[in-house]
Amino acid sequence: MTTTVDSHKPVRLSWRESQTFSQDRIGWMIRSAAKQGVSHFQVLWFDIFFVADPDVIRELIVKRPGSLHRDPFTTNVLRRIMGNGVFIAEDEAWQRQRKLVAPAFHAMRIRAYAETMAAYTREMAGRWQDGEVRHLDRDLTQLTLRIIAKTMFNVDLVEEAERIGRLMQVLLETGEKQLDSAYPPPNWVPTATNRRQNAALRELHALIRDIIRERRASGRDEGDLLSMLVQARDEEGRPMSEAQIVDECTTLMTAGHETTAVALMWVWLMLGRHPEVAERLYAEVDAQLGRAPLTFEALAGLPYTEQVIKETLRLYPPAFSFGRTPQEDIAFEVNGRRHAFRKGASVIISTMAMHRLPEYFPDPEAFRPERWAAGAPQPPKYAYLPFGGGPRICLGNLFAMMEAQVILATMAQHARLTPEPEQGLDWDPLITLRPKGPVLMRVACR
Ligand code: HEM
Repeated sequence: MTTTVDSHKPVRLSWRESQTFSQDRIGWMIRSAAKQGVSHFQVLWFDIFFVADPDVIRELIVKRPGSLHRDPFTTNVLRRIMGNGVFIAEDEAWQRQRKLVAPAFHAMRIRAYAETMAAYTREMAGRWQDGEVRHLDRDLTQLTLRIIAKTMFNVDLVEEAERIGRLMQVLLETGEKQLDSAYPPPNWVPTATNRRQNAALRELHALIRDIIRERRASGRDEGDLLSMLVQARDEEGRPMSEAQIVDECTTLMTAGHETTAVALMWVWLMLGRHPEVAERLYAEVDAQLGRAPLTFEALAGLPYTEQVIKETLRLYPPAFSFGRTPQEDIAFEVNGRRHAFRKGASVIISTMAMHRLPEYFPDPEAFRPERWAAGAPQPPKYAYLPFGGGPRICLGNLFAMMEAQVILATMAQHARLTPEPEQGLDWDPLITLRPKGPVLMRVACR
């Protein structure tokens, strides 16, 4: 007979502690996970759980997805930016929207995107001068933005990429400020943060509306996501409203570029710290591709490149956590422990903290791409979750992995990048886990 241990007694945080709690969420997650798989805090009258136990995560996001919604703190902030697109929607609306946009991400379909990704990367790296120092954060954000716009909406944002990059930065900074505060004022209150955010959103939405109107007016079927949205009809044969199409497009544009750009910033920072890994990567790219433009078929010959990306996503997952809120009281038993989550609690899946636990990843702080080699022992299911899991797993996960591999290999064909001496590894969690400050890299053309 097994004895059931009632887990997680709540720790009530003082006002002072709750301040550092919201400002240093990652530090708290990492320290809590090192002590126990599930930690329970009470801040004022809120229940907050940090979960870094793969079996508990499976119960929550895979077995009971219908009983949990996204957590309201994150949702309230992200809804301002993404509207009611697939990321934010719940229940039937989410099912309908996910079904509608998913075909753009089917494995067969994304194959066709590889060449666009490679061509845009060649264009970017081709402009670099030998010996110059690049702001890699800007270059990568603009690159992934151009790729998402071309593959989803068939538009080439040459001039606009820089402007949208700046708007995105404003949205991230203001969104993070709102996340840091327990009660961000509603967006109609004219605070400095709201005014900045609303102005950036107006500009971004105007641009997206222009793209939609142009497509509607042309009547063209480009076979891309935008045409799917414009042509979609509900059961009564009604088209989607323009506002809904704007929300879906904004969702994919924002969720679909910043995360991959951030992942690649960390990849290059890791390569800068681990020259032996960088050498192996360059050797693989040279042997498999030489100077030839990358194609989808060539990706299978670049396993080490993929391992470097997976290992970076382990240590620096751009989505360092994601939240859920039970819609009813939930209780279950896992490995002899009873877990109870009250309706309305914030349940934060601490991805980054879990990725650094020695029981799942021996010598967890070490950057070792070989962990992911074929035949190497793999971590338990749901211990590695850079893209989440269960029905709400990242819609763009295959797209993002392919994109990261294509961009990394193509960049490596063109240049060696070395971090400037002052470049550190601090992070600045601006909704995603960005490296702090600009990412400055010196270019040596190959
Ligand atoms: C390295 C890049 C990326 C990372 C690390 C990442 C990570 C994630 C994570 C952790 C989630 C939340 C899962 C959950 O709450 O259970 C998510 C959701 C989502 N991601 Fe990504 N993502 C990336 C790239 C992309 C791309 C390229 C796209 C689109 C082109 C995309 C579109 C979405 C959407 C639409 C959702 C919401 C899915 C839903 O709620 O049904 N992501 N992503």
